Amino acid sequence: MEAIEAILTRRSIREYTSETISPEAINDLLKAAMAAPSSHNVQPWHFIVIEDHQILDKIPETHPYATMLLQAQFAIAICGDIQVQPEVWMVDCALAAQNILLAAHAKGLGAVFVGVYPITSRMRELKDLLKLPDYILPLSLISMGYPKEPKAPANRFSSSKVHWGRW
Ligand SMILES: Cc1cc2nc3c(=O)[nH]c(=O)nc-3n(C[C@H](O)[C@H](O)[C@H](O)COP(=O)(O)O)c2cc1C
Repeated sequence: MEAIEAILTRRSIREYTSETISPEAINDLLKAAMAAPSSHNVQPWHFIVIEDHQILDKIPETHPYATMLLQAQFAIAICGDIQVQPEVWMVDCALAAQNILLAAHAKGLGAVFVGVYPITSRMRELKDLLKLPDYILPLSLISMGYPKEPKAPANRFSSSKVHWGRW
């Protein structure tokens, strides 16, 4: 898939089939994540691939918008190391997250960004569940599976959002 086509047709996918995802495909998603730009090229990200439904199924018990994890093949928790990047770790990690979303879509997978940071209760719950050290903060989870249904692209282009030269 062309990059521009992947960008313009990506949607959040929250319903999945039971088809499993190959380790090679998971590796491609992680490679895409780590190809993202980061401030001073510090790459403060860490990725926790969660396939265990004992863990995945616990998350919606406390996260109100994460029920899709119950049928996900796996999720990737995107975390940042605040020891190496205390200021903009969340920006770097968000760029890595978008790379995962686009790579997943380009490979025919369905994914959705599930927000964690900066909601302290969600961050604490995920930290406990994933046994994160204190210097590793969770930004988000990416829920992943093969899409149950195709989802139409959303055309959100609006010229009212564009300002040429000055406001
Ligand atoms: C910071 C952020 C947090 C989000 N959190 C959730 C979430 O907790 N649960 C969820 O189902 N979708 C979540 N989303 C996905 C948005 O709802 C989705 O991207 C938006 O509705 C646009 O739809 P689209 O991704 O299909 O284009 C989040 C997206 C962002 C950027």
